[in-house]
Amino acid sequence: MERITCMSLLLTAVVSSSARAPRQYHFVNQNLSWTEAQSYCREKYTDLFTISDIQEQNDIEQAIKRVNSNADRVWIGLKNTKVGFWSDPVFYTEQYRNWGSDQPGGDGDCVYMNCVNDHKGQWHDVDCNTTRHFICYNASKGFIIVQEQKNWTEAQKYCRESHTDLASVRNQSENEQIQKIIDQNKTSGDQDKRVWIGLHRLWVWSDNSTSTFTHWKPNNNNNNRETCTLIVISDEGQWTDEKCSEEHPFVCYDEKLVLVRENKTWTEALRRCRNMDMDLVSVDSEQMQQRVMNVTSSALSDHVWLGLRHSCTVGIWFWVNGQTVCYDQWASDYDIGLDECDQTVRSGAIRTHDNHWISLPETKEINFICIKYM
Ligand SMILES: *[C@@H]1O[C@H](CO)[C@@H](O)[C@H](O)[C@H]1NC(C)=O
Ligand SMILES: *[C@@H]1O[C@H](CO)[C@@H](O)[C@H](O)[C@H]1NC(C)=O
Ligand SMILES: *[C@@H]1O[C@H](CO)[C@@H](O)[C@H](O)[C@H]1NC(C)=O
Ligand SMILES: *[C@@H]1O[C@H](CO)[C@@H](O)[C@H](O)[C@H]1NC(C)=O
Ligand SMILES: *[C@@H]1O[C@H](CO)[C@@H](O)[C@H](O)[C@H]1NC(C)=O
Ligand SMILES: *[C@@H]1O[C@H](CO)[C@@H](O)[C@H](O)[C@H]1NC(C)=O
Ligand SMILES: *[C@@H]1O[C@H](CO)[C@@H](O)[C@H](O)[C@H]1NC(C)=O
Repeated sequence: MERITCMSLLLTAVVSSSARAPRQYHFVNQNLSWTEAQSYCREKYTDLFTISDIQEQNDIEQAIKRVNSNADRVWIGLKNTKVGFWSDPVFYTEQYRNWGSDQPGGDGDCVYMNCVNDHKGQWHDVDCNTTRHFICYNASKGFIIVQEQKNWTEAQKYCRESHTDLASVRNQSENEQIQKIIDQNKTSGDQDKRVWIGLHRLWVWSDNSTSTFTHWKPNNNNNNRETCTLIVISDEGQWTDEKCSEEHPFVCYDEKLVLVRENKTWTEALRRCRNMDMDLVSVDSEQMQQRVMNVTSSALSDHVWLGLRHSCTVGIWFWVNGQTVCYDQWASDYDIGLDECDQTVRSGAIRTHDNHWISLPETKEINFICIKYM
């Protein structure tokens, strides 16, 4: 099975403008819990603010300082989950746990299994930067120990490239199976008996943005409870997390969809949007799909261009905002014509009668949707 993880691509060679256009943010100087702040933003604007790079981080800091010099701790749209998701999407929500006593202790977002003699394969959470040996899962061979020191993210990358994924442990017998594999090596030291498994805590943006930018205060310890993220202005804008029920001011952002009811080729449409300081829309969540459906209902063509482009060389679809396609609404027959993609560049459009996406030759002239990150 082909596994493409959600990622950001560097597409400067393919699309002319790289970073997303600046969005308009609204600082709301009212103390609300994170969840209330989220509702407020969704009602009045689009969502709580998502920070995708250092530029946006600096902009937002400056904006808060300008508007109100007293506000110090300000919610943004990042929230964590409990430690509790497996790296392998197939076993994402498997519930078996084998925590050691007082674990998870909030020392980090990644989990290792302790196979040192008396520890019975118990689990501990720790900083994902720590380097350890690790256990991959290989769909045809089972668990595989990799005796190389890697941090959790790199271990995950290694397992996904060479096997299936970092190991998910689904019951006591699988836990013992791993312990046995580790015990087989009589010469390995205690340190090498603490191995990464695929469990980790996930941080998610309120709008499901896949941004991986972070700006944590060093040694920010995330406790094992649901927490939400604050920018601390007096601490150089570094991020810290806190109980989501605490009340703080917050930042929302706003963006707007514009259906252009003119028939253009995909490239003309992209240029047209960008000339108006907008971009062709990237539909990377169910929420965005809903909003797009809402505007396509008044289109004058049967299909409407999205910011979706096919790369024949790499053989993948990507959004003009630089993301690969993770969320999708492809029609079952969307890929007709792709085998000849070296002759005609294909782009993606939404079909107005059922709102599924299909691939069309980019020279077709149809309506399109621009998005303004206000
Ligand atoms: C893991 O290691 C790589 C390479 O040394 C580094 O770039 C990355 O930031 C590390 N990631 C984490 C989460 O520690
Ligand atoms: C299992 O491991 C072998 C190498 O030992 C690798 O070639 C194969 O692709 C792996 N299978 C899966 C499903 O990851
Ligand atoms: C543990 O889980 C695996 C995979 O679901 C299953 O094949 C096995 O029978 C389970 N063992 C026990 C003892 O539940
Ligand atoms: C046992 O562990 C040591 C240290 O972790 C490693 O260097 C060695 O290759 C391992 N031996 C086997 C047979 O896997
Ligand atoms: C984010 O994704 C989750 C899980 O897929 C979904 O339930 C939720 O509605 C999404 N939120 C938004 C704002 O799109
Ligand atoms: C759809 O559009 C109408 C009119 O512009 C608006 O009132 C409504 O909130 C929109 N619904 C969604 C889900 O965006
Ligand atoms: C745009 O193309 C559609 C067919 O896809 C056609 O029905 C419509 O009249 C055209 N609109 C304009 C303004 O040319």
